Amino acid sequence: MDHFTYINGQLHAEDVALERIAKEVGTPFYCYSTATIARHYQVFAEGFKDIKATICFAVKANSNLAVLKTLANLGSGADCVSMGEIMRALKVGIKADKIVFSGVGKTRAELKYALEAGIMQFNVESEPELNALNEVAIELGSTAPIAFRVNPDIDAGSHDKISTGRKGDKFGIQWEKAHEMYEIASNMEGIDVQGVSIHIGSQLSDLNPFERAFEKVAGLVRSLKEAGHDIKRLDLGGGLGIPYNSEEIPHPAEYAKMTIAATKGLDCELVFEPGRLIVGNAGVLVTAAIYEKYTSDRKFLIVDAAMNDLIRPTLYDAHHEIVAVKEGDPAKRPVDIVGPICETGDIFAKRRLLPQVREGDLLAIRSAGAYGAVQSSGYNSRPIIPEVLVNGSEYAIVRRRETYAEMLGKDQIPEWL
Ligand code: LLP
Repeated sequence: MDHFTYINGQLHAEDVALERIAKEVGTPFYCYSTATIARHYQVFAEGFKDIKATICFAVKANSNLAVLKTLANLGSGADCVSMGEIMRALKVGIKADKIVFSGVGKTRAELKYALEAGIMQFNVESEPELNALNEVAIELGSTAPIAFRVNPDIDAGSHDKISTGRKGDKFGIQWEKAHEMYEIASNMEGIDVQGVSIHIGSQLSDLNPFERAFEKVAGLVRSLKEAGHDIKRLDLGGGLGIPYNSEEIPHPAEYAKMTIAATKGLDCELVFEPGRLIVGNAGVLVTAAIYEKYTSDRKFLIVDAAMNDLIRPTLYDAHHEIVAVKEGDPAKRPVDIVGPICETGDIFAKRRLLPQVREGDLLAIRSAGAYGAVQSSGYNSRPIIPEVLVNGSEYAIVRRRETYAEMLGKDQIPEWL
């Protein structure tokens, strides 16, 4: 459920007409709904209200400070994968003891920064990283709280590029080596072993791979405890999908029920790192039609947003619903919705049914709140587009449009030229 609905034939974000925002902000722009973010956070949290659980929003999904602040106010922690993301989380008031640090390539500078900040947990993904963290901690005269991210060798059944828990994927430590790694870590002066973590992939539409992974990792927690390790936290990652099209996605309540059953009796605090589930359907990308172009076998609708603004269709063949902001005549015809970038792959949708759209008419590309703005670039020298946050009947620009002066100003021409 989201809060993008038609009122008097005009698509609104909560109580604000997208057309009104477009007039004031220009197109293209991202628009987020506070009520939708809050609802999704609360629905997820509700499932775990009776157990000890911490929800750490995956900042990579949407790192806008206003979005993060909205989540911080709801009590969310943060799952970060870089120093920049930790800075963002801290800046909006998320307490360090609610921050987990994931990723296969944390640099020593990043480890030091996170250690000094006092974060809750480092999810360590290799022995070299463990050694580096141990050294950094000893230098600082401190100890680093860690979980090992283990690779359970389970196929999430999602898109190949966003499945992370198979043996051949770069993530986590090898399952068979887990006990050995915990043994090594427990003898390190700068390391305090506290947990186990997994994350098997993103946009999962089935509970089965989660269940297999959670049961497998619960078994590992039990055997580690038997071996004398004090495992007090189990981080189960993110990954529950959202309906982009007509997929049937399990409700977060079902996910919670399954998770609680799979981890029963472990006596561990559970940590979750949902990203897409919280913000995916809380955002749209609003774009205006530039031209309609007809060839003998195709109708192209060329819009002012492009793959540099939202790369998901190009990169993952992702489906995003696309609707006219002003409800048009019900007669629909198939069009290819494409951007202005000089690449054939700059396509948002092929043969999509839309009412007649004229130059200047607005379209909303739905489910663009996760992995949309964060993955944008300035390709083709297109300025980074703004982000707007709606809250009831008010809205604010939460990231302004990059100006051409800013864009050009970042380059420097050396003196010898
Ligand atoms: N935790 C870790 C360690 C992750 O790597 C990820 C996502 C998450 C949590 C959050 O997963 P979520 O709940 O959002 O599924 N750009 C791609 C998605 C990449 C996901 C990367 N990792 C896309 O647009 O589909």
